[in-house]
Parts: sequence; structure tokens; C-alpha cells
Amino acid sequence: MATADNAMDRPATHAEDGVRRRDFIYIATAAFGGIGAAAAIWPFLDQMNPSADVLALASVEVDLAPIAEGQGIKVNWRGKPVFIRHMRAAEVQEAQQADVSSLRDPQSFDDRTQEGHRQWLIQIGVCTHLGCIPMGIADGEPRGDYNGYFCPCHGSHYDNAGRIRKGPAPTNLEIPAYEFLSDTSVRIG
Ligand code: FES
Repeated sequence: MATADNAMDRPATHAEDGVRRRDFIYIATAAFGGIGAAAAIWPFLDQMNPSADVLALASVEVDLAPIAEGQGIKVNWRGKPVFIRHMRAAEVQEAQQADVSSLRDPQSFDDRTQEGHRQWLIQIGVCTHLGCIPMGIADGEPRGDYNGYFCPCHGSHYDNAGRIRKGPAPTNLEIPAYEFLSDTSVRIG
């Protein structure tokens, strides 16, 4: 008389062996994925606890007195370059005359600068396309087709107020939070 078939007590058929192998591969893959995920999450969690040096750079104070009209400097803030340019009156005027409605990322010059300090253009020097550092301020010379900033990585042209005019970048150069402490001192961040 036939007894109940117990799969654990007999050798596996070829088909069953295939199923068990697939189960093993699946379990092994899942386990490996779990370890990988845990390993990936740890640095992420760790990143959420800013170190002392990062906290120290949460804001930077910059002395503007040495920057003459027509000159610019680059400072490091939270690991990013920040362009600070002391614009000439003619540059400010040119930037204010732009037809804002025709811009890809419509923003007036006055939206990008502060009342009483229009001559100071402060912006994050990171191309909004894929993150290269545009040229135009490090050497103080206007670059690109719009007398402003040019990112050579894929050819993004920004005007002298850092507004995107041509090329693949979707938005203007970002303006960081900043506050003037006096006419010649600014705190970024
Ligand atoms: S990163 Fe600047 S144009 Fe692509």
C-alpha cells in the first residue's frame, strides 16, 4: 500500500532540485541585498550627523572691502564655491534692463540682489545642469555669449546676473541665503 509521499525523505527529482536551487539563489540574493542595503544606509544615517567642521562652516563671513569694482572672488561655503562679484554700475544697469519675461527662469536682477547692496552679486558657483563650476568670476572676466558666466561642460551661458540664457542648464545660478552685516561685510548661510 502506498504511503504519503514525503519530499524530505527521498532524493530530489531533477525538477525539484531545480526548484530548490532557485529558492537558494533567491534567498541568497535577498540576504545579500539586505546586507547591501544596510551597508548603504549606514553612511547615509552617518551623514545626517554633521561633524564639527561642517557645523563650523554652516555660515561664513566675508570681508568685502578688498574687492574693487569689477572684481570678484570665490569663497567656499558648505563645500560649494560661492561667487561674489562687485559689479560696476553699468553692469547693474544692463542686468536690470533684461526682458525678464523672455528668460527661461524669469527672475529680475533686483530679485537676485538686495536693496541697498545691488552692486554685490552673490551666487552659488555650480552650474544647474550637472554641477560643473562655470567660468567667469574666478578670473573676473565676463564669459559666454551674455557677458556673464559660461559652463564649458555642455555649453550653458548665463548672463552677468547668473541667469540662464542658452544651453542645457534649466535654472539660474542659485542664490544662497546671506545677510549684510555692514556695507563691507556679509554673512553667507
Ligand atoms: S554642467 Fe554646466 S552645462 Fe552641463
